[in-house]
Amino acid sequence: MKLAFGRSTETSTQCVVPLPAQPLDRSRSDLLLSAGYFRESIPGEVLATRSWGELARSYSSLPRDTYYEEGNRFRSLNRFRAILRAQTIHLSLGEEGPYYQPRCYNAELGDLQRLYTSNPVLTCFSEPLLWIIARHLETIEPIVGSSLFEIRVHMIRYQPEPTRPCDSSPPGLHKDGEPFSSIYLMAKTNIVGGATAVADNNLRQLEQFSLDLPGGGYFFMDSAIYHSVSTMRSGLDDAIAYRDIFSVDFEPVPTRLLCE
Ligand SMILES: [Fe+2]
Repeated sequence: MKLAFGRSTETSTQCVVPLPAQPLDRSRSDLLLSAGYFRESIPGEVLATRSWGELARSYSSLPRDTYYEEGNRFRSLNRFRAILRAQTIHLSLGEEGPYYQPRCYNAELGDLQRLYTSNPVLTCFSEPLLWIIARHLETIEPIVGSSLFEIRVHMIRYQPEPTRPCDSSPPGLHKDGEPFSSIYLMAKTNIVGGATAVADNNLRQLEQFSLDLPGGGYFFMDSAIYHSVSTMRSGLDDAIAYRDIFSVDFEPVPTRLLCE
């Protein structure tokens, strides 16, 4: 999909993004329903934008995740709200608030109201975010029949040290409890491990892969699969190691709320 980045409306907190005026491609929706996930990469034209570079550089300023010290990770949380209406996405800032997962989804950090600061570099106008949202609203909308979505963007740096590996949370095969999620690699250096595994709901592994190139990623429907990320270790003792992830959660909201 080639995304036109024209905006018919711009304010500091809202932008309007027209979707391409071409027939909707239902193949990704069908693939998501049949397989539960698919892999894909952000196209080169989006990786070449200034905002991709600004976002990539901002990872070195992310605050430490104090809720998971042993994970040795740094992270932010930005919230948006998207409405898909007449082939146009209306994207605005969402309400700030804690991030919450029930304990059944995360035994270590569940049932906590986790407060993460938002990353000021990420805005409604960031081209990588617009591409991801446009791409996946097209994918999800035919499945859920909703046109209103809460969107959460997690920017996470895993930074293992020679004597201190990093784990994602929770470790091992799990579900996140977010209805739909996309995960993309922003950057990776001097990392050993960090492989993604995907399994069906009977815990039979379907695939294992590593995100090695910037923009590489995958998109999944949480109810259909389990996923995991293996422990990350630093490769060379005296060199900094990090793995930067850009993760976008999509939560459909019942459309009736639009009228309230
Ligand atoms: Fe997860």
